[in-house]
Amino acid sequence: MMWVYWLFTSIVAFHISCIRSHVCPKKCVCEHTKSMQCFRIQAVPTGISSDVTKLNLAYNHIKEIKGRDFIGLSDLQEVGLSSCGVELVEVNTFQAQPSLRVLDLQKNKLRHVPRGLPSSLEVLRVGHNHIHALQGAAFEGLHRLRVLDLQSNMITALRANSLSALVKLECLYLDGNLIEVVNGALRLPQLNLLSVASNRISSLSSAFFASLQSLRTLQLSGNLLTRVPHDLPRALLHLGLDRNQIRALRNRDMAHLRNLTVLSVSANKVSSVDGGLRLPNLTSLELSGNQLKVLPSRLAPKLETLDCRQNALQEVTYQHLSGMRHLKHLFLENNTIRHFEANALKNCLQLTNLALEQNLLTSIPEGLPDTLVRLDLKQNRISTIREQEMKTLKRLQVLNLRNNRLSSLSLRLVAHLPRLQRMFLGGNPWNCTCELVRVKHALMVRQVDIGEELCVEPAPTLGEHWRVSLLEQHRCEEDTVKDAEDSDPEEQTENEEYYDYDV
Ligand SMILES: *[C@@H]1O[C@H](CO)[C@@H](O)[C@H](O)[C@H]1NC(C)=O
Ligand SMILES: *[C@@H]1O[C@H](CO)[C@@H](O)[C@H](O)[C@H]1NC(C)=O
Ligand SMILES: *[C@@H]1O[C@H](CO)[C@@H](O)[C@H](O)[C@H]1NC(C)=O
Ligand SMILES: *[C@@H]1O[C@H](CO)[C@@H](O)[C@H](O)[C@H]1NC(C)=O
Repeated sequence: MMWVYWLFTSIVAFHISCIRSHVCPKKCVCEHTKSMQCFRIQAVPTGISSDVTKLNLAYNHIKEIKGRDFIGLSDLQEVGLSSCGVELVEVNTFQAQPSLRVLDLQKNKLRHVPRGLPSSLEVLRVGHNHIHALQGAAFEGLHRLRVLDLQSNMITALRANSLSALVKLECLYLDGNLIEVVNGALRLPQLNLLSVASNRISSLSSAFFASLQSLRTLQLSGNLLTRVPHDLPRALLHLGLDRNQIRALRNRDMAHLRNLTVLSVSANKVSSVDGGLRLPNLTSLELSGNQLKVLPSRLAPKLETLDCRQNALQEVTYQHLSGMRHLKHLFLENNTIRHFEANALKNCLQLTNLALEQNLLTSIPEGLPDTLVRLDLKQNRISTIREQEMKTLKRLQVLNLRNNRLSSLSLRLVAHLPRLQRMFLGGNPWNCTCELVRVKHALMVRQVDIGEELCVEPAPTLGEHWRVSLLEQHRCEEDTVKDAEDSDPEEQTENEEYYDYDV
């Protein structure tokens, strides 16, 4: 019987390809003869040209996918069936498509990974379905699969041996499942990226990583880990551990990660970084939202970005940061820093961004490196600025002093900032004296953006104090304009890069 069926379908396919090979089926768009997209269909259309290689059927209503839907389409390489409400893909559906490389079944209602997919498959996307378990049988024969996307399903256990057929797998996405149990050893020698964020993993055994010698990126954010897993793969470049419950970072758990460049452990409970982290290739370390009371010292010598926002830091000293000669971005906002040792950043000769907003500083730190381009001091308790604090800031372009306790500024101070482009001054109890009005005009002549907030015309209801200062402002006006015209506005030089985060 089988051969009769086969003969019949071959004849049908032959007819379809002869008669309608250059006709595009109804409700479809055929960009080239080989690429086709269909809309508002309830089944895979008939009459598809037999040489089509790319078939995009996304955003339709197709409950079941069957082998016979694709008869005669032996050149198919890519099939898109995402967001179609698919509940079932028949076993061996694509066995007559020996060139199928990419199958996209994301955002459907599948309860299982389809079985009997062709061994030519390289990319399989089944994210955002209702898959509960990974069964080895579904992956048998997929020895060319490079990318497997299983994110946002309902998988509760990751049993390593169910994936052992996938010898060429490079990227595995399992984010947003319900994985609690992880066992066995993942034997995926080509695996480059493993992403298991937002699951319920509380521990991972050393054995799990033993055969992942190519792993470069490991994403474990949003789990229940209480410690950095042991024996992480040596080749790692990126390690994400945000939003776990890790309490300490220990050099001995990580010292073997000699190529690690980015380590992110934000929003954990880290209170100590024991023995420093002497990772020779680390360039970015993110520790925001932890419980650090002191800055980690003896950190990686190549570090360029250190993010310790939102911790419980109280001071910054030379001893902590002296080894960080490559540091470019230092984020220390939202701590309780009161003490910032003079010249603490003396050795940081590449530093361009320093964020210190929301701390308890009463003055601008002295001896900041002259490479600084952006300095944020919003919401501290700074009441006066002294000349020696400004002297080194020859390249500063952005200075944020919003919400401090400043009442005055002198012309001499701003003359120390030749490259200034923006200065945020709102939210201070300014005393609008002639001097301050002069500063304002000098900055305006230099085209420094200071917003409209400094000594503006007050609303009439603000009372006597404002009326007096307004009068004074008028009285100064003429002199000031004259002064400003006389003084030579500093030459504007090329913009250097800075982080343009919220002010
Ligand atoms: C570290 O990186 C270097 C240079 O890219 C590479 O030769 C070496 O094999 C890597 N080490 C590991 C353990 O992967
Ligand atoms: C890591 O650092 C070592 C020595 O500092 C170097 O030989 C190696 O190439 C670096 N690896 C990468 C990936 O940069
Ligand atoms: C500052 O830190 C506290 C607690 O550490 C947090 O609740 C708050 O949202 C943070 N504020 C900002 C603006 O980041
Ligand atoms: C403003 O400055 C003037 C001149 O220095 C001073 O006399 C006055 O008391 C100050 N006013 C306030 C409110 O600080």
